[in-house]
Amino acid sequence: MSLFLSSLLLAASLLPASQARTLFKYERVQLTTEYLQTLPEEDALLFAFENTFEAAAVNKTVYRCRYYPGDGKWPSEKAWTKLSKQLTTPDLLIKATPQAAVCYPGDAQNDAKCQQLTSNWTNSYTHVNDPTEILSPVYQGLTCQPPSIYNSGNCTLGGYPAYVVNVKNVLDIQVAINFARNDGVRLVVKNTGHDFAGKSAGAAALSIWTHGLKDIQFFDSYVDDSGYKGPAFKAGAGVQAFELYKAANDHGVVVVGGEGQTVGIMGGYIQGGGHSPLSSIYGMAADHVLGVEMVTPTGEFVTANSSSNTDLFYAVRGGGGSTFGVVTSVTVKAYPDMPVSAATWNLDSSKIGKDRFWNAVRAWVDRFNDNADAGIYNYFIIAPNGTTVSFIMQPFFAPNKTSAQVTELLKPYFSRMTSLNVPFSPKITSYKGFYPAWQAEFPLESQSDVQTAVGSRLFPRSNFASEVGRNLSFSALKDVVDAGQSIIAFNMAPTLARGGNPDNAVNPAWRTSVLHAITGRRWDLKSSTTDILSVRKALTNGTMQKWRDITPGSGSYLNEADRLEPNWQQSFWGDKYAKLLEIKKNWDKKDVFWAVNAVGSEGWVVESVDGLPNENGRLCKVNGTATTSSGVVGATPAPKLRAF
Ligand SMILES: Cc1cc2nc3c(=O)[nH]c(=O)nc-3n(C[C@H](O)[C@H](O)[C@H](O)COP(=O)(O)OP(=O)(O)OC[C@H]3O[C@@H](n4cnc5c(N)ncnc54)[C@H](O)[C@@H]3O)c2cc1C
Ligand SMILES: *[C@@H]1O[C@H](CO)[C@@H](O)[C@H](O)[C@H]1NC(C)=O
Ligand SMILES: *[C@@H]1O[C@H](CO)[C@@H](O)[C@H](O)[C@H]1NC(C)=O
Ligand SMILES: *[C@@H]1O[C@H](CO)[C@@H](O)[C@H](O)[C@H]1NC(C)=O
Ligand SMILES: *[C@@H]1O[C@H](CO)[C@@H](O)[C@H](O)[C@H]1NC(C)=O
Ligand SMILES: *[C@@H]1O[C@H](CO)[C@@H](O)[C@H](O)[C@H]1NC(C)=O
Ligand SMILES: *[C@@H]1O[C@H](CO)[C@@H](O)[C@H](O)[C@H]1NC(C)=O
Ligand SMILES: *[C@@H]1O[C@H](CO)[C@@H](O)[C@H](O)[C@H]1NC(C)=O
Ligand SMILES: *[C@@H]1O[C@H](CO)[C@@H](O)[C@H](O)[C@H]1NC(C)=O
Ligand SMILES: *[C@@H]1O[C@H](CO)[C@@H](O)[C@H](O)[C@H]1NC(C)=O
Repeated sequence: MSLFLSSLLLAASLLPASQARTLFKYERVQLTTEYLQTLPEEDALLFAFENTFEAAAVNKTVYRCRYYPGDGKWPSEKAWTKLSKQLTTPDLLIKATPQAAVCYPGDAQNDAKCQQLTSNWTNSYTHVNDPTEILSPVYQGLTCQPPSIYNSGNCTLGGYPAYVVNVKNVLDIQVAINFARNDGVRLVVKNTGHDFAGKSAGAAALSIWTHGLKDIQFFDSYVDDSGYKGPAFKAGAGVQAFELYKAANDHGVVVVGGEGQTVGIMGGYIQGGGHSPLSSIYGMAADHVLGVEMVTPTGEFVTANSSSNTDLFYAVRGGGGSTFGVVTSVTVKAYPDMPVSAATWNLDSSKIGKDRFWNAVRAWVDRFNDNADAGIYNYFIIAPNGTTVSFIMQPFFAPNKTSAQVTELLKPYFSRMTSLNVPFSPKITSYKGFYPAWQAEFPLESQSDVQTAVGSRLFPRSNFASEVGRNLSFSALKDVVDAGQSIIAFNMAPTLARGGNPDNAVNPAWRTSVLHAITGRRWDLKSSTTDILSVRKALTNGTMQKWRDITPGSGSYLNEADRLEPNWQQSFWGDKYAKLLEIKKNWDKKDVFWAVNAVGSEGWVVESVDGLPNENGRLCKVNGTATTSSGVVGATPAPKLRAF
């Protein structure tokens, strides 16, 4: 404890005054080389920064896979205890247990708790507030679900991490990164677990859980060297949409964030770009970032902004999470609050018949470019149900518009509906500001599907500029619904002209698109591995290929994507990929950070135990050779620390 305290004091005194001024209290608690020097060498080796190792010793550590429990080189109980002792408090190291262990035979079994958990299972808070849980259980490997939802047979850890550090400050993050890197343990980062492809989990990993980093600071007149003067927020990596929006409302401003209530707005969301109910006015969330604080793969804590570490600054604004380091806070621009109006409506083929239903949807497609240009974010679902199909507008979200303006905007559609003899009576509501509108119009979405694969595609504006294009695009959407799949879609235009600071890593395909459409294919719960793989193939190479064929050169949104997205480098980043890869290689020479389809992830693959694409297996080098049972190649010489 006394060593720990001295590290605190040392850390605080070493920081230059100008930087300390903008850091959160938890960012001033840092690991220092001076502190490491006070440890016995064998302990220092566990936690040392990368740059304090002898280069030659590090190079010779060759292994095909990250270590697994049971491998000779997997850290001993003693080493894990040592890790816990270097954290702010030892209880911050959590040995992972699946939540649903209460439902299976074993010490944790508890029928009452299992029942409660089961009834709450589709509520995102159940998963967000848990250290290991993710909202896409298919990619965890479904090894411990509540049995009445999916019977996992036995409850095992599967793709959940082995240990979690519930980080409270920068020091905890540095200790965790250094330990994982120095010991060949897989590292993952979990914030809320919302990622569609399961990127916040990983078998046998040490997980950095950023959920507790909740600080929020408002500047009514932030000034930075780049020339920006105006309101801004600095918010911790764990801050969620509902928290930042409330803070913004308290100060009479808005920030560009997502529609989902529990999404980690300063974590994977903003690092992957971030679309927003304000996107047709302000562009992507990543366009409004003024600076980030982060811990790099070598364990260093740095600021990345328009004048410091500019390559990292470019990369973390759209380049994706879990790639360049652990972000501890993000500073974003804020804008004056504005009134909002929203419209909702449903169409149901059981009431109007299929022909009129599809004519009405086809007429809606005609409106995409105009809606986007008018600043609207319209979020709709087309859901088949047996022989019927419904269209649910939830909502047509119109920032800075009165209900009269919304009525005016919907007028052309209204006349089309009249001529098509389709009853159309949208419910239009006006709100004083963004926060009450967002709260009322975006209900909590349900989670944890165990039998679906999803994919998404960005449809360019040009697809909707001609009748031929609109017909083609409409048919591609309708075919999917006719085949029994639902579509969840967002019509918006996060264009360059409106987006604040566009020189970032956001997928260029967003800039020309007006539609982000998501669909999925379900399999039967009893499906075999072969059956699941063939359903996945039908999605990836069937459904999605048809969408790709009519949107050549466009892309897909990495935060809401197919885990098996082909040619993902182009899909997620277009011509920005080469630059991002160079930045990744520069900052993470040892591939400490790895997530599926993340920048620079090509060299490794999860060898899943069931042959399905998921996190339940070892993370291994793609072209690794000569494996031993421990996954280690050759002898691993004792690493050496440079003389301090
Ligand atoms: C219900 C729902 C609603 C959604 N709504 C929207 C929306 O409106 N707009 C939109 O654009 N997207 C939306 N998304 C998608 C969302 O952007 C992604 O799921 C995103 O990855 C969430 O980030 P997170 O940090 O909350 O989640 P996590 O799954 O915890 O993290 C996502 C990825 O980022 C990494 N990561 C997280 N925090 C950090 C950090 N501090 N430093 C480094 N890496 C980190 C993780 O390792 C992981 O790879 C929604 C998703 C869901 C399930
Ligand atoms: C060790 O790595 C450095 C830089 O990555 C490289 O220049 C050097 O050749 C390597 N040494 C050995 C022995 O492989
Ligand atoms: C669900 O979880 C919430 C807390 O998030 C709790 O208040 C509620 O009682 C739970 N509901 C059930 C049915 O267990
Ligand atoms: C559960 O584990 C037991 C003991 O390891 C094993 O015999 C059994 O086959 C497992 N059941 C399933 C469904 O995997
Ligand atoms: C970037 O961060 C550094 C370090 O905190 C700071 O000195 C500099 O002023 C910042 N640059 C801008 C443009 O704010
Ligand atoms: C689907 O239709 C059936 C009746 O045919 C109905 O009971 C059910 O609620 C519908 N499901 C949805 C999601 O609308
Ligand atoms: C909102 O509308 C007002 C006029 O109605 C306009 O002056 C203002 O620029 C608009 N704000 C945004 C962000 O578009
Ligand atoms: C578009 O589709 C409609 C309905 O099928 C058809 O009448 C029209 O001719 C098509 N237009 C073009 C340009 O193909
Ligand atoms: C799609 O097709 C390619 C090329 O044939 C193949 O490599 C890939 O595995 C297929 N994808 C899926 C999900 O089956
Ligand atoms: C693996 O080896 C193959 C064949 O030599 C090569 O084409 C591929 O690029 C390699 N992949 C990686 C990630 O190194």
